[in-house]
Amino acid sequence: KDVRLKDQYERPLRDLRISVIDQCNFRCSYCMPKEIFGDDYPFMSEGELLSFQEIVALAKQFTKLGVEKIRITGGEPLMRKNVSQLVEQLADLKGIHDIGMTTNGVYLVKHAQALKEAGLKRVNVSLDALSNAVFQEMTGRNTKVDAVLRGIDAAIRADLEVKVNMVVKKGVNDNEITPLAAYCKKKGITLRFIEFMDVGQTNGWNFSKVVTKKEIYEQLQHIAPLVPMEKAYFGEVASRYRYQGSNVEVGFISSISETFCSSCTRARISADGKLFTCLFAETGYDLRKLIRSTASMDDIGKHIEDIWKRRTDRYSEERTEETARNRRKIEMSYIGG
Ligand code: GTP
Ligand code: 5AD
Ligand code: SF4
Ligand code: SF4
Repeated sequence: KDVRLKDQYERPLRDLRISVIDQCNFRCSYCMPKEIFGDDYPFMSEGELLSFQEIVALAKQFTKLGVEKIRITGGEPLMRKNVSQLVEQLADLKGIHDIGMTTNGVYLVKHAQALKEAGLKRVNVSLDALSNAVFQEMTGRNTKVDAVLRGIDAAIRADLEVKVNMVVKKGVNDNEITPLAAYCKKKGITLRFIEFMDVGQTNGWNFSKVVTKKEIYEQLQHIAPLVPMEKAYFGEVASRYRYQGSNVEVGFISSISETFCSSCTRARISADGKLFTCLFAETGYDLRKLIRSTASMDDIGKHIEDIWKRRTDRYSEERTEETARNRRKIEMSYIGG
């Protein structure tokens, strides 16, 4: 393992986020607004998706460059057929210490046990409201909250570590902060509040729709004072706290108000095999083309190494209303968050 690999800002490559499908059963307004992602939206075809074999071969090259942690994303990753078989192969790779998945939770009822048996350690479940009306407004579908809560329970029963991700949008679900916090505290689940971000080009983002960490922090004082905690690992995106008098944690992912690019160790692969060195990148590097050519896996590994060495991304630190509007950023459902 080349432990010396660093990008232009001395950041090592530690985490690989792999999107396995660009489709989703939800249409969250901040991610896949239903006006854009309609019935005729051109999702990737089966042949465009990387096969499991291709994903594993690429992931293996990333482990040689320092990756220790893998996260499976989407779209909704549980919509990819037999995804637990992929988990099993990735979990077997030498050097991988942690493998998680980010999901909307609905299909966990069906898959949690198999995922656990395949070697998955953790799931981060997106849930933005406890009230059905607000949940349905956020997700753009008429699925009930209960479907997600049952998914969370199935994951807990399967002994997966569970965290809940809540994206907060001003005037839409900010009234849900306290109820969701109370629910998670009672169940002993870590809840992470995510500042609404300007990912993609279709979610209508502007600064005035962001509820900041500070505002949420103040609301939580009604539940209990918060005690700061150390980061769980280098480069963790969330700042962590626990409720006073309890071991239950809450986190804040404040990509807008307190950026964390200086410790960003994440690479992303889209479901069709493009490598992105930032969530807000405009272009990716086509690894699928290489892996389907006569190039050797060692050559591909070298290519990835060169890309990482040249990396200068630090979008969240450069963000202005102007970049948020005019940059041609890749969509969230494509790059996987
Ligand atoms: P853990 O391994 O549990 O810490 O997961 P995670 O928080 O890294 O991943 P998750 O998929 O749960 O992402 C939570 C939120 O953080 C999502 O809104 C992501 O888009 C956001 N996020 C993750 N990585 C980055 C990043 O590198 N930059 C920015 N701006 N946001 C990120
Ligand atoms: N801003 C912040 N978080 C987002 N997510 C999706 N779109 C956005 C956005 N615009 C979150 C999802 C999920 C994770 C992968 O990213 O809720 O938890
Ligand atoms: Fe689907 Fe997650 Fe995007 Fe919502 S945020 S549309 S659940 S991929
Ligand atoms: Fe990393 Fe880009 Fe996010 Fe900054 S904005 S933390 S560089 S992915």
